[in-house]
Amino acid sequence: VKTITNICCIGAGYVGGPTMAVIAQKCPHIKVTVVDVNEQRIADWNDADLNKLPIYEPGLADVVAEARGRNLFFSTDVDQAIDEAQMIFISVNTPTKTYGVGKGMAADLKYIELCARQIAKVSKDDKIIVEKSTLPVRTAEALSTILNSTGNGANFDILSSPEFLAEGTAISDLQKPDRILIGGDETEKGQSAIKSLVAVYENWVPRENIITTRVWSSELSKLTANAFLAQRVSSINAISALCEKTGADVDEISRAIGADSRIGSKFLKSSVGFGGSCFQKDILNLVYLCRHFNLPEVADYWEQVIKMNDYQKHRFAKNIIDTLFNTVSGKKIAFLGWAFKKDTNDTRESAAIYVAKELLEDRAEIHIYDPKVSKEQIFADLKSVCHPEGSEATKDLFKNVIVHKDPYTAMQSAHAIAILTEWDEFKTYDWNKVYDEMLKPAFLFDGRNVVSNEELEKIGFQVYNIGKG
Ligand code: NAI
Repeated sequence: VKTITNICCIGAGYVGGPTMAVIAQKCPHIKVTVVDVNEQRIADWNDADLNKLPIYEPGLADVVAEARGRNLFFSTDVDQAIDEAQMIFISVNTPTKTYGVGKGMAADLKYIELCARQIAKVSKDDKIIVEKSTLPVRTAEALSTILNSTGNGANFDILSSPEFLAEGTAISDLQKPDRILIGGDETEKGQSAIKSLVAVYENWVPRENIITTRVWSSELSKLTANAFLAQRVSSINAISALCEKTGADVDEISRAIGADSRIGSKFLKSSVGFGGSCFQKDILNLVYLCRHFNLPEVADYWEQVIKMNDYQKHRFAKNIIDTLFNTVSGKKIAFLGWAFKKDTNDTRESAAIYVAKELLEDRAEIHIYDPKVSKEQIFADLKSVCHPEGSEATKDLFKNVIVHKDPYTAMQSAHAIAILTEWDEFKTYDWNKVYDEMLKPAFLFDGRNVVSNEELEKIGFQVYNIGKG
């Protein structure tokens, strides 16, 4: 079994950055180099000002401060890092394909393939390759084919070790994972590669929390985990729609059913809909795989989780328009929150983007405040769903969307407020002041059930919650 002292990770994003920072923190004897083709991203990881790290995660800056320059390095020299490493993690993005076969469904593996070809080209000695990216079943096999047929005779063992961290709690998830999953070949070589990676994690994770499986089980476990998690959200959101019609309260239902140990209390919070870069992409990928293997009933079953999520976002936007007397044209709507969840600056697939799109189509004027998301990011998100670059309509977009640095100015003279992210600071606002400065009737649509309706209704707000009849 090879003892690992030099690790390279390709991809310095939301997974690669925090994951490698924690490995470096917990294993001072291992040199960890994170590489990326995005020069700005690497420069930000190396910035002396830790507030400039490209990713916001509670606790991340401290870990980087501890390990960076000691045994944690960020670099754009991909070839050198590959050459030096005994073990290479691949942590590049695997978005949904936007073209050709499988468009809108399958995972786009072009970045993975490019990595494999580069590793094969550069490597002079044997290496262990670890898939950290979420990949469809049997990708390891494809990787192995590319690596072992295009290289210079070096040997590669492929492991699958999907990452289960959640954004917003990435550092604590990585420091105390529920489990680590490692899939490898059943051959002697494969088993020895598994042992090398187990030894890395054993520096801080108890052995009984490290699960080893076959490669394909490991790959499919990640898709399954995300499908189950998203399914819980869509299930409780489906019930929220029924609550609103009947006068039941979805939070009471969550508490009541969550007390059943067979169901459990986590992931039962109803909301405007799930977002994030993974749930939708991974379920679409699962659906695509099921259709590919001619299992249409299974595909339809999982696809419904996405449809329910789209319905929930649409229902929220439509309720705003309906309540504001059937039009939001020219009306000022304040958005609190743009990130897909609290404690992250990640906006990928955020429900806010889709709600904003529907309101903009009804000609609303949207004033946005988010404590961690930049103005540039918000406009990039809107452009990607609303209008092609440079079109006439894009100008309107800039005219009708205003991003604020201060929540109170965003809400001043608004017809309505919509809460899209569950940031804790929203609970602490001076809601009396907000009410006084708003147009009346003062509507508040709480898409995350974060502020107390009783208190706000006492002030005079007309409050609409998810799943409260
Ligand atoms: P990301 O987009 O934040 O980061 C990927 C990075 O890889 C980018 O900085 C990109 O420039 C770089 N890259 C792409 N091709 C490259 C190449 N050939 N050479 C060097 N660098 C290259 O993506 P994120 O969120 O970190 O996700 C990575 C993978 O992890 C995906 O497969 C995702 O499904 C999975 N995952 C993501 C989680 C999350 O919470 N974001 C959680 C668990 C898994």
